Amino acid sequence: MTRFKIRGEQKLSGEIRVKGAKNSILPILAAALLSDKTVVLHDLPYLIDIENMMLILQSIGCKIKREGSTMIIDPSSVTDHVIPDRYVKEIRSSIVMLGAVLARMKKAVITYPGGCEIGQRPINLHLQGLRQLGVVISESHGYLECEAPRLTGADIHLDYPSVGATENIILAASAAEGRTIIRNAAKEPEIIDLQNFINSIGGRVHGAGSNTITIEGVKRFNGTEYTIIPDRIVAGTYLVAAAITGSEITVSNVNFEHIQSIVTKLREAGCIITHSNGSVRIKSPQRLRAIEHTKTYPYPGFPTDMQALLMSMLTVAKGTSIITENIFENRFKHVPELIRMGANIRTEGKIAVIQGVPGLKGARVNASDLRGGAALVLAGLKAEGETIVDDIHHIDRGYEKLEESLRSLGADIERVEV
Ligand code: EPZ
Repeated sequence: MTRFKIRGEQKLSGEIRVKGAKNSILPILAAALLSDKTVVLHDLPYLIDIENMMLILQSIGCKIKREGSTMIIDPSSVTDHVIPDRYVKEIRSSIVMLGAVLARMKKAVITYPGGCEIGQRPINLHLQGLRQLGVVISESHGYLECEAPRLTGADIHLDYPSVGATENIILAASAAEGRTIIRNAAKEPEIIDLQNFINSIGGRVHGAGSNTITIEGVKRFNGTEYTIIPDRIVAGTYLVAAAITGSEITVSNVNFEHIQSIVTKLREAGCIITHSNGSVRIKSPQRLRAIEHTKTYPYPGFPTDMQALLMSMLTVAKGTSIITENIFENRFKHVPELIRMGANIRTEGKIAVIQGVPGLKGARVNASDLRGGAALVLAGLKAEGETIVDDIHHIDRGYEKLEESLRSLGADIERVEV
């Protein structure tokens, strides 16, 4: 069992570099299956979710090598269309393998990805889009058995701009016959990265970043060498770490456009933020101001993945802040843990009311999901005394050695085996 041990009230300083975005890498690893030529990806962090996705690719026949932050994938000998249960249960976002395996093998079997810590996570929009592309899907005994002898382009409207459904449809449509249009598509930067990757192997995807994406199916794909965009949520996490501790730091390798909604909130709380040449500098006040109301929305709105992190810093702001979580129905599991540290938070359904307190007290707390766990670490940086964060495997899913990154900025944090 590993946990983080944090001694709070340390100021942070210095510079930290952000690596490639987890939520870009996962669909791009699936997209590598479209080609039978070698694909080289650069600037990948070491994350549990990436390891699991690599295991899935290897289990269906891909050869993969990791050399530091570079990954070399040889998808030439993909032989299997059955995606192993044990990995799907580990990482539910492996559902995007469905569109890619169908594009390559014209059939696929995958276990129904369950819900997770933050919500029920339905995939109805994924299945509806794939069926419109001509995929025959039967659901039996918890498995999705899919046949697609002939993928055909379609005009698809998504009821909700689902990130995963948009990605799955792009993956399958890239090898379909004819044109596919996705209306009310997700506009996240990770969708643009997926488009750019697919086009770099010879695909023809256009419009990502807008709500209408057009895909012209192609028959053959090439190899490529591709560098992943920086992780906007990891960048936001480091900025909030500086804000909550009243510190001044620089975060490098950031696409400033991708973090606009986060920067706006930090400035509202009294932080001074400047940027140049892909680096962002933050200077934080000794006491943050409350932020009247934050609502999570699909991009370019304030990201749900930053909700817990923003909440952790608002627990010690001056005044009352409100957060409305519009995206996932169960994404306040960090609240009782923050309360154990002395925060004053009340939740009612999807609304949280945070009364700022002068300070937090270290406590023993539990990470129950990826971003909620990271929020507890940041609260521990601020808290008086020692904080222990248990179940940190949730955090390792999306942050590469978070303790080393924060320690490099001056935090007193260590990973302890118990
Ligand atoms: C992606 O999840 C991200 N994961 C999530 O990041 C992120 O929070 C989310 O997008 C929203 O930005 C990856 O990219 C791997 P959605 P995804 O489909 O694709 C409902 C993290 O911390 N919905 O946009 O699952 C769903 O229930 C993770 O890195 C349907 O109803 O997000 C949810 O309420 C957590 N039917 C909403 O849409 C569907 O078929 C958003 O889901 C699909 C989704």
